[in-house]
Amino acid sequence: MGKIKSLEDLMKIKESTLKDLKMRDTDKRGKIIVAMGTCGIAAGAKETLKAIVDILSEKGIEDIAVVQSGCFGLCDVEPTIEVRIGENEPVIYGHVTPNQAKRIIDQHILEGKVVSDLVVKRGEL
Ligand code: FES
Repeated sequence: MGKIKSLEDLMKIKESTLKDLKMRDTDKRGKIIVAMGTCGIAAGAKETLKAIVDILSEKGIEDIAVVQSGCFGLCDVEPTIEVRIGENEPVIYGHVTPNQAKRIIDQHILEGKVVSDLVVKRGEL
């Protein structure tokens, strides 16, 4: 996909991404929330979101919902995502590039191990 040149381009990307996402998360084991505020998008949150959706799909992981949210207020560590698994304490990760997203999915989502070096906050915001 090329560079975003206008708000219209951005809205198109958002719509197509939303179509790909299963927004219903009621029967899921957990969810990944991607902060899509202005600061997150500027830092690459769109690529991170796409990578997360692609990796989950490649690995056949269907019990994790992917949802978007507004800004977490953590501008300096964007892109940020929050991982919630069952009743466990939520974990917010920062500087989540597509490569780091893969690490988080492999370790946290699949093995249940928090990726400590990327954690910016634990618990509710
Ligand atoms: S969009 Fe304002 S702090 Fe993130």
